[in-house]
Formats: sequence, structure tokens, C-alpha cells
Amino acid sequence: MKYILAPSLLAADFKCLAGQMKMTEENGAEYLHFDVMDGMFVPSISFGMPVLKSIKGATEQVMDVHLMVQEPVRYVTDFADAGADIITIHLEACQDVKETIQKIKNCGKKAGISICPQTDADQLLPYMELVDMILVMSVQPGFGGQKFIPESIEKIRKVRRMITECGRDIDLEVDGGIYQDNVEEVLKAGANVIVAGSAVFGGDPGQNTKAMMERLRQY
Ligand code: DX5
Ligand code: ZN
Repeated sequence: MKYILAPSLLAADFKCLAGQMKMTEENGAEYLHFDVMDGMFVPSISFGMPVLKSIKGATEQVMDVHLMVQEPVRYVTDFADAGADIITIHLEACQDVKETIQKIKNCGKKAGISICPQTDADQLLPYMELVDMILVMSVQPGFGGQKFIPESIEKIRKVRRMITECGRDIDLEVDGGIYQDNVEEVLKAGANVIVAGSAVFGGDPGQNTKAMMERLRQY
């Protein structure tokens, strides 16, 4: 299995964004996690297509777009055109989850599905044959810098078992409250794509990426 670090730009210093991205890229982060918030599905508003389009040209990293947006089907084509490589939608935000996933695939992009902390993993079952990635939220979506919800560990284990049982090569991403001191627990539970905002951009992004990557490489 491949272990990947996805630094979340939400915590980056936007006045020197390209430089911060470079520091993560040079130290081994293969993805960039791009958190889109609409002020509806989650209370806050972050950034959208124009920002994605502009940073896409500044890095070779995979653009891992996390849509915390109500009815994301409305924006799939826009984000695909702006440079997304993976588009993850929230199960809770879609009237028709399958149609939304299909639209992502029709755009030639990898499709991810995410669940909030209060959503049971069993609800993912109808989509296991369709998705490329499952994103387990380990905090309430909407803000960076929150504390990891301990119950997430059991959910990660369960989702990893579901992936093994279904026999497909689905990535398991975990997002929220992951730092150097708990990342190993998250990896051990079965995650292989680690999102880290504050842990990477709080301080020196190069040094922090390097330290996180050392832990990922042990797996
Ligand atoms: C929360 C976002 C996360 C967030 C993670 O809604 O989806 O990606 O930026 O930030 P940290 O790592 O600081 O919890
Ligand atoms: Zn996210």
C-alpha cells in the first residue's frame, strides 16, 4: 500500500503560498489537500476554483479537492476544469450520491466520498464499488486546528476492513487533528492518506513535512 501525505492549504500562509507549497513538495508530500467550504454545508467559507486554477501551475503535486459543499454535483465540472485530480464529496451533502460520483468519473477524475464523525461507516456500503477514495473526517468539517476525535480510530479500522472485504484498491484518507504524536495510531488503524493542516503549516512547512514523512515511511 502507498502512504501519502496531503498537507491542507487551509492552514497555509497565503501571502507566500507558492513558497509554502514548494517546501512541502520538496520534502515528499505528494498531494495538496484543498478544502472548499461554502458557508452552507459548513459554517465557514474558504476558497474556490480561481485559487485552485492559479496554484495548479505552481506545483507537480496531486490536487486533492475536498468539497464541503451542499449539492457538490453543481460544481464538479468547474473544479475538474480548474485542475482537481481527486474530487471528494460528502455523502451527507448529496441528494443523489451515485450521480455525483458518476459525474466526477465522467470528468476523468478520481472520486472520493467523505463521512462526518456522526455518520456510520455502513452508509458507505452502496458506494464501495464506485469510489477511488474514502475520506473519514476525524473532526467536524469546517475549521482547521481542531482536536482529533478519539472514536475515529474505531471507524478507520472498520472502513479498512470494509475496503479489504470489497477487494478493490480504495485509498483511505483521514482528515482533522492529525499531528506527529498521533499519526502512527491513525496509520496503524488503516489509513494510507494523511491530511495535515496545522501540523504542516504551523511552523516550518519543510521541516514539518519531513518529520511527518519519516513517520509515514515506517509503514
Ligand atoms: C476541516 C478540513 C481539514 C483541516 C485539517 O474541515 O477538512 O482539511 O484543514 O486541518 P488540521 O490538520 O489543522 O486539523
Ligand atoms: Zn479537508
